[in-house]
Parts: sequence; C-alpha cells; structure tokens
Amino acid sequence: MTLTRKAILFICLGNICRSPTAEAVFKKRSKDAGISVWCDSAGTGAWHQDERPDKRAISTGRKRGYRFTGQTSRKIEPSDFEDFDLILAMDKQNLLALSTMCPQEHVHKLGLFLDYAPHTDADEVPDPYYGGPDGFDHVIDLIEIASEGLIKAIKFDTL
Ligand code: 4NP
Repeated sequence: MTLTRKAILFICLGNICRSPTAEAVFKKRSKDAGISVWCDSAGTGAWHQDERPDKRAISTGRKRGYRFTGQTSRKIEPSDFEDFDLILAMDKQNLLALSTMCPQEHVHKLGLFLDYAPHTDADEVPDPYYGGPDGFDHVIDLIEIASEGLIKAIKFDTL
C-alpha cells in the first residue's frame, strides 16, 4: 500500500450540485474507511463563483449524513492540474473541457468518477440542476457507489 496522501479533485459544471456532493460524500466515506485523502471540488464554469452548494444538494446529502461545511463554488484553475493527483469529472462534457485546459504532463490524472462504479449502467453523473428532487437522490446514489469503488482502488493501490 502506498503511504502517499492522495489529493482528489471532483469536477462538474457549476460546482454547486454534483461535485460538492462528491466532495462531501468522499470526505466522510474515506474518513470512515480510515483512508487519508485531501478532497476538493470545482466547476468548469464560473457562473456560481463563491456561492454555497445548491439547497437541494445540501438537503439530500444531509439526510444521508453528509456535511457541506465550508464549501463554496469555485472555477478550476491552472494550478489544480499540478496540485491534485486525480481529477474526476462527473460527465463527459466536463471531462472534455478539462482535457482542453490540462497540460499534457498531467492528462493522466483526468478521468470520469463513474469509472470507479463499473457495475452500474451509468457512465456519467447526470446534471440535476433543472430537474426535480429525484435527480438529486439519483446523483447521490451514483456518487456513493463510485466513492466505494475509489476507496477500494486507493486501499489496494490500483489507481
Ligand atoms: P452542477 O449543476 O454542474 O452539478 O453544479 C449545475 C449547476 C448550475 C448550472 C448547471 C449545472 N447552471 O447552468 O447554472
């Protein structure tokens, strides 16, 4: 097992729904699993810069025991590609956006979060922003599954 503390950045479009949820879920579950990681989240867009996560994301997360303390929206910045070991997008659109910004030497850090949830039908975490509350439950279901897969990959050093 590697002793290096991994730094993981979760990415969506607005950084108010999916990636803050991924950050909150992964922080709790990795801690519960006894894994030391540094987590953050960011958006490829800046429309919601400095805003708190969406109220629907917070209430859905809180019902499952997750906390969004201290989270505010920010746009990805060039230093993130240097600072993080793993940069995981919620969907292909955002992965494509990342790949156009990312220096070649860091491209190996990019991926889809649901690569760690191979037993689900989904390969993307869908954008819940314009939908109803069910969308937020579906988002968190997928994020919980992918979080378990990522924790296993870190534990068994198969990243
Ligand atoms: P997120 O959801 O990418 O999961 O944070 C969205 C939030 C805001 C918008 C789109 C998606 N928006 O268009 O403002």
